[in-house]
Amino acid sequence: MTERIALYPGSFDPLTNGHLDVLSRARRIADRVIVAILENDSKTPLFTVAERIEMIREILKDDPSTPVLSFNGLLVDVAREKGATMIVRGLRAVSDYEYELQMALMNRRLAPTVETIFLMAKEEYSYVSSRLVKEVGRLGADVSGLVPEPVRRRLTGKF
Ligand code: PNS
Repeated sequence: MTERIALYPGSFDPLTNGHLDVLSRARRIADRVIVAILENDSKTPLFTVAERIEMIREILKDDPSTPVLSFNGLLVDVAREKGATMIVRGLRAVSDYEYELQMALMNRRLAPTVETIFLMAKEEYSYVSSRLVKEVGRLGADVSGLVPEPVRRRLTGKF
């Protein structure tokens, strides 16, 4: 049987428990889920791409069914190159919808055979975003429970 490969793309600056929850759901519907970190993001990141890769690999314990890579250029080109037939994105509130719809439809236009799949994280993570985690972490709040432990440790180190 053909291996079902999904791409889970994002900035992951840093990975949150919401991302991790979406990832674990994706792993139930795909044989392999490739975490793909965008390199040339216009936003100024807190963590370098190398740090993000290292953290995610540590969290996933180098599971061969969940490889982590970084990419430049079009996501659909990575999908084609890796043989992925699905792009996984997490949806939280309605406010995510418009941006996600635009991306999904653009990606469909560019690669009609690659399907975008939306997954909802546990409701307890519905307000969790990388941006807010960084903001409250920078201001001294405890972010445990919002991010995996390796991220919490490195966030504390940054601030
Ligand atoms: O976590 P983010 O920042 O919302 O992720 C956005 C990401 C990385 C999925 C998106 O910016 C992306 O796929 N960029 C790669 C460039 C690309 O393919 N653009 C066209 C998609 S509409």
